[in-house]
Amino acid sequence: MQCIFDKQINRRNTGSLKWDVADHELPMWVADMDFETAPEIMEAIKKRAEHGVYGYTVLTEEWYDAYQSWWQERHSFTIQKEWLLFCTGVIPAISSIIRKMTTVGENIAVMTPVYNNFFHSILNNGRNVLESRLRYEGGAYSIDFDDLEEKLADPQTSMLILCNPHNPIGKIWDRETLKRIGELCIRHHVLVLADEIHCDLAKPGCSYTPFASISEACRDNSITCIAPTKTFNLAGIQTAAVFAADPVLRHKVNRGLNTDEAAEPNAFAAVAPVAAFNKGGAWLDGLNAYVWENRTYAEQFIEAEIEGVHAVKGEATYLLWIDCREAVGDFAGLCGFIRKSSGLYVSDGCAYRSAEGFLRMNLACPKALVEDGLWRLKKSIAAYRAQKISNFHNPS
Ligand SMILES: Cc1ncc(COP(=O)(O)O)c(C=O)c1O
Repeated sequence: MQCIFDKQINRRNTGSLKWDVADHELPMWVADMDFETAPEIMEAIKKRAEHGVYGYTVLTEEWYDAYQSWWQERHSFTIQKEWLLFCTGVIPAISSIIRKMTTVGENIAVMTPVYNNFFHSILNNGRNVLESRLRYEGGAYSIDFDDLEEKLADPQTSMLILCNPHNPIGKIWDRETLKRIGELCIRHHVLVLADEIHCDLAKPGCSYTPFASISEACRDNSITCIAPTKTFNLAGIQTAAVFAADPVLRHKVNRGLNTDEAAEPNAFAAVAPVAAFNKGGAWLDGLNAYVWENRTYAEQFIEAEIEGVHAVKGEATYLLWIDCREAVGDFAGLCGFIRKSSGLYVSDGCAYRSAEGFLRMNLACPKALVEDGLWRLKKSIAAYRAQKISNFHNPS
């Protein structure tokens, strides 16, 4: 029997950001999945659509219950109903919270390489990006705590945006690490904004630790963004939530989201999370198992077939972070070269402020596409090598 995730769906000409590319190109860049969402969610959306009246919408009790039970059952964490606020997306929430909780010219710390839209949210609002670069040693990432503390201790630093789990490196931060981050932030009066959008996408058997679960002090010094959109492939529905346990923080966030007009759901944004969290568990387990097979396949393919290229081991997200430096050095045009030479469209590591020579490949697609993408990558790396050798023999 064919697995539901093997089904190839033609997304061309559907207004898809990811698939709006030339016919010969294979997009494996932006973080959405090429799978249909869970049948239970499609059912709920169809039912809402069939109602035919799409007036102004409010959240029902079910919306709160769905978030609360999911976090309780899946992540052993209690979110109180009154902590929860609706937002049209995690990035709208982050931008709004930056505007409300920090002032122009302040520093916002991030641990790089990290999700590129953090930089845009910070810079678009006139704040400074203060980078603490993650250490990369022996194929693994870790936090340089001395550097992080130095950045947090700057009195001009007012917020840390924490990516938990961490896009693009696929890392789940453990409890001890989160505790250290939390303590440093409290010591230096830095508010933590935890983006936990990738929390459900983990290797079977692995789970993430909500930052707010570390301690009461961490919980009360943080605001967390969560959503069903990465997990269930609903980004186009624009639905997310923010929670803050501290009533003063929450009041401010609520005012900010309202002022920014990002606090009201459309008709589908209100119902999709309910179906997702109440009925999507089995589908998600199947998805994680499938994506992890894709990841294992990709890691093995790269090690066996593409000399000088290494997949970085991760436990979360469907994004594979690939180190090509041994093969291409610090070649700045790597992604453009790959796209041109084989049609494979992946994300350039530099967008996340990593060193040159890294790229991010989205594995949330049928295995046949993963295979196609990896052969294209192999072809492009070989073409790069051939070009380098020919340049060496025929210097201009
Ligand atoms: C870490 C992280 N946060 C937020 C988003 C986007 O969230 P939204 O679509 O809800 O704005 C993404 C999308 O890739 C992401 O990786």
